[in-house]
Amino acid sequence: MAWHGTLDSIAKRLRSQQSAIIADQNNSSREKSLRSFSSKEASSLLGITESHLRNRVSNADGFPQGTLLGKSRTFTLDEIIAARRWLYESTGNQKYKPSRRNGEALCVIANTNFKGGVGKSTSTVHLAQYLALKGYRILIVDLDAQASSTALFGIDPARHVGRDPNGRVLPAGTSIHGWISRSSDNEEVAAEEAVRSTYWPNIDLVAASAILHSSEDILKQRSMPNMHAPISEVDWHREVRAFLDHVGGQYDVAILDCRPDINMLSVNAFSAADGLIVPVLATNMDLQSMTEFMAFLAVTERRLLKMYGQEGWPGWAFVRVLVNRFVGTSRPQTEVVDSMNLVLGPLMIRNPMVETSALGSAGNMKWTLYEYLPAKSEDRSYKRAVAAMDAVGAVIEREILSFWGRKLQDEVNAAHGVAAE
Ligand SMILES: Nc1ncnc2c1ncn2[C@@H]1O[C@H](COP(=O)(O)OP(=O)(O)O)[C@@H](O)[C@H]1O
Ligand SMILES: [Mg+2]
Repeated sequence: MAWHGTLDSIAKRLRSQQSAIIADQNNSSREKSLRSFSSKEASSLLGITESHLRNRVSNADGFPQGTLLGKSRTFTLDEIIAARRWLYESTGNQKYKPSRRNGEALCVIANTNFKGGVGKSTSTVHLAQYLALKGYRILIVDLDAQASSTALFGIDPARHVGRDPNGRVLPAGTSIHGWISRSSDNEEVAAEEAVRSTYWPNIDLVAASAILHSSEDILKQRSMPNMHAPISEVDWHREVRAFLDHVGGQYDVAILDCRPDINMLSVNAFSAADGLIVPVLATNMDLQSMTEFMAFLAVTERRLLKMYGQEGWPGWAFVRVLVNRFVGTSRPQTEVVDSMNLVLGPLMIRNPMVETSALGSAGNMKWTLYEYLPAKSEDRSYKRAVAAMDAVGAVIEREILSFWGRKLQDEVNAAHGVAAE
């Protein structure tokens, strides 16, 4: 019996169901937009005290005013970004200008593991949002046809990325496929069109959909010596890097959300990356599969070094393993994490992302922890989850700063004995 007819119609039904969910989340009465931040959150993000923030607001002087609701004032992320700029311009203090400076290169991070369901997409999007709140400019590149990062930004992969519901290819610019399938005379346009803005003012996205399978076909053709596609001078391993060289100027950090398993786009991600994050679950199965993954990374690094030499490929500045869905009260999980710590040593991020029902409910709604406003009853577990996520974000931020040859602002303050103003 042939299945394709049934499978096609199931895919069609699922697609329209998914589209309906996304459309519902994005309809104007429930538009997916970024919430505002309380004065407490805003001052903490700016690195100033609440009274300092109040003073700035009342002195006006072009400082963003936020919105007064009853007695409390809230700020949009746009206003927080403008406030940071205002503070930098009026004080010259670099702590208000975290984005990269002259001579500092775009930091490319690949979020990767053989395994699915370990939190690659969840950590990609949360890390992006953590950094965006801190004032960095982020590009997420979704390299997984499952398109979870894409969907988390309220974009329907079935309708708005790659092909429309009738199978027509949408104009280039809706995924990395627009870049991979470019012709040599439209490089600039293909690169720029692949990027779209999101409702986070300082996060842009290269969305994904099933069209990425076609990118694989093109890369495969390009990898065959006698079947060069038109852009033969570009090595297939370096396509994602070449893309980032075009568009990366506007960003501080690019995060590549990889697919589980290895395909040519993931090899591209490995060669483009300055750092790797490997999310894992604290189970023996994950520990075992990580053994294979580490061996694979070693082979990949050797291969890239052999191909490009130290000059051509700078290598990974960091490789960090991130435990996700950790339950502190679970003995088996604690034992697995202990063995991971023992074997992986400095590669381990010591603060895991915790299992949280807050993320469960946030996940169903396709809200992240940084977007979600919990019900009162969820407040404690939500705060714990955010604190864990923040701690992970801080570890990666430190890696990024050290990639740029800088230190975390808190450490700079501590070294100079400066308290927050
Ligand atoms: N810390 C967590 N607590 C609860 N649910 C989580 C957590 N991390 C991820 N999830 C859920 O697990 C599922 C898989 O996560 P995802 O990020 O899509 O994994 P991957 O990208 O590695 O396939 C998603 O439904 C996500 O909401
Ligand atoms: Mg994913």
